[in-house]
Amino acid sequence: MRQTIEIIPGDGGDEPPCLDSGNPHFADLVAQRLKRRDVLAGGLAMAVVSVFGRPGRAAAGEAGRMGFRPVPVGRTDAVTVPEGYRVQVILPWGEPILGRAPSFAVGNNGDDQAMQVGSHHDGLHFFPIDGRSDDGLFVTNHEYVEVRLMHASAAGLKLGADDAYLIEGRRPADDVLKEMNAHGVTVVRIRRNADGLWAAVPDPRNRRVTALTPMELAGPVRGSDFVRTKYSPDGTRVRGTLNNCASGATPWNTYLAAEENWALYFRNDDTVNGKPSQPREHSQYQVPRGKTRYHWELAEGGGEAFTRFDTSRRGTGPTEDYRNEPNTFGWMVEIDPFRPDTTPVKRTALGRFAHEGVVFAPAVEGKRVVCYSGDDAMFQFIYKFVSAQPYDKSNAGGHLLDDGTLYVARFNDDGSGDWLALALGQNGLTPENGFHSQAEVLVNTRAAAKHVGATRMDRPEWGAIDPNSGAVYFTLTNNSKRAPEEVDKANPRAANHFGHIVRWMEADGDHAATRFRWDLFVIGGDAKSGRDVAGRPLDDDNLFACPDGLSFDAAGRLWIQTDISDSALNKGRYGPFGNNAMLCADPQTGEIRRFLTGPLGQEITGAGMTPDGRTMFVNVQHPGGHTSAEEFAQGRLGSHWPDGGSAIPRSATLVITREDGGVIGT
Ligand code: FEO
Ligand code: CA
Ligand code: CA
Repeated sequence: MRQTIEIIPGDGGDEPPCLDSGNPHFADLVAQRLKRRDVLAGGLAMAVVSVFGRPGRAAAGEAGRMGFRPVPVGRTDAVTVPEGYRVQVILPWGEPILGRAPSFAVGNNGDDQAMQVGSHHDGLHFFPIDGRSDDGLFVTNHEYVEVRLMHASAAGLKLGADDAYLIEGRRPADDVLKEMNAHGVTVVRIRRNADGLWAAVPDPRNRRVTALTPMELAGPVRGSDFVRTKYSPDGTRVRGTLNNCASGATPWNTYLAAEENWALYFRNDDTVNGKPSQPREHSQYQVPRGKTRYHWELAEGGGEAFTRFDTSRRGTGPTEDYRNEPNTFGWMVEIDPFRPDTTPVKRTALGRFAHEGVVFAPAVEGKRVVCYSGDDAMFQFIYKFVSAQPYDKSNAGGHLLDDGTLYVARFNDDGSGDWLALALGQNGLTPENGFHSQAEVLVNTRAAAKHVGATRMDRPEWGAIDPNSGAVYFTLTNNSKRAPEEVDKANPRAANHFGHIVRWMEADGDHAATRFRWDLFVIGGDAKSGRDVAGRPLDDDNLFACPDGLSFDAAGRLWIQTDISDSALNKGRYGPFGNNAMLCADPQTGEIRRFLTGPLGQEITGAGMTPDGRTMFVNVQHPGGHTSAEEFAQGRLGSHWPDGGSAIPRSATLVITREDGGVIGT
């Protein structure tokens, strides 16, 4: 989603970063793990299943190798892939997937949108049907919307300087309904036809989850006073999901959608003794005062599904107004794509924050389940959850995410790291310090993490786990606000405009460990400021800024996606990077090559593959997002992708294959 980034023309004087994390042992650790893995794999045909899903085993010496020629920086309103590759665009915003949904038109109404693909595609996953590589359930998040493009009449809508939509009076209820239904998640069966092209097909599992879909709360926060609402007086149910950014797949084949910048959708204008005052559960996540992102609370008719976004206190208790509504957001949402009748579940044990990536360690029978997630805000943290119960394939399921320990990471300057438990009674999380229950710890995850002394990071986004070494990688997209005195070894640049990628190895290769060792895999930037793990300057083939999406394929190639803010793209210090792009890295050599560039104004986000590794899915979000208010008023749109001509831009999914049918990336 859009982030405010200060734009200063010119180079800005970024110094080449120091890659010395004080951790000379990290490469040795990786080598040891790879060596041990090879010994284990000798004669055992060990299966490696990554988030991309392709089983197989790449010898350590071959893992992650790239066989394509890098593409240049992109500056056109088109997608570019390496020679020998081809791209098909599927599932644009508004494509009908349910019932009698009409074809896409700007004039589609709110009910139409509930049967069509949502907008602003983000995290995605391909769930094969019967293990096939030409047929599966495609699941993708829809992070937010571009209101200016959604309605037959956008009269009265203005884009404010802070990216909020400014409006006077009330909003047409159907406009608001349409925007809510363009959020959430799409589940749709897609299949490759005889002509090699993919298309959505009717299927009883096709489904839209939106900002209005009933959901369950599970885990320690369920039923607590923090989540009792007018909608659910006993605090067990929730209405809808918002701002679904990154995603992940569980070891039991369900989908997790992250709720990221949900706070912007609410307002809380409470005062105490005439002064602004919000509860900690709102203020630490920056719930706005006096405005909301799209002003849904101003919908005509004032139905409760709309007015709930104004959470200012009006009644005498939590079930008489909407004071607790924001507490029902900021979670990870589990959706079972194969069971369309099941209710999505918000898994509160995984913490509440601006959830970005969620990545699971490979499930091992008899071992606890582990997943990692980041909080994408400046100076926020990286977390991991370790289940209390071990993984048992015969009955594994979402219940494993309801009971366990949430940890937050501390990156020490000597290259070591600690996982600090966010558990009531531990690390100072006590009633004397304002934490009276585990529910209170989790609803206030940010405050708890700060209290225990976690390391303040440069906007953690996606995470990914190397299927060969077990190393965990996380993108840190940027942090222009880091002051020189706030620099540490894991966040080594003041005013970090270009971001970097951190990685770590858990002690003894055990993802449930409480100690780790880390280093920096790459420092984003141009030739002057960017460095790969071997200390080589980034160059025309791989310079990039603002890493965001991150995935490993089954062979161990690391896919890095960029999200330079649409307001900053191709301007000032971001000029050298062109349009947002996807790069591929070899984690062993540190080599990086640019694989794909997207059209104007968009970000590249979300990646998945078929089990055979021969088809890759990637999302293009908010093409034309850089269109200024002035340009829009003049009828000038910054992009017309994917339809071209004078068409309005639409987020969509790319299907990438090789002309020779080979494995992507080799
Ligand atoms: Fe929605 Fe942090 O990107
Ligand atoms: Ca983003
Ligand atoms: Ca993101």
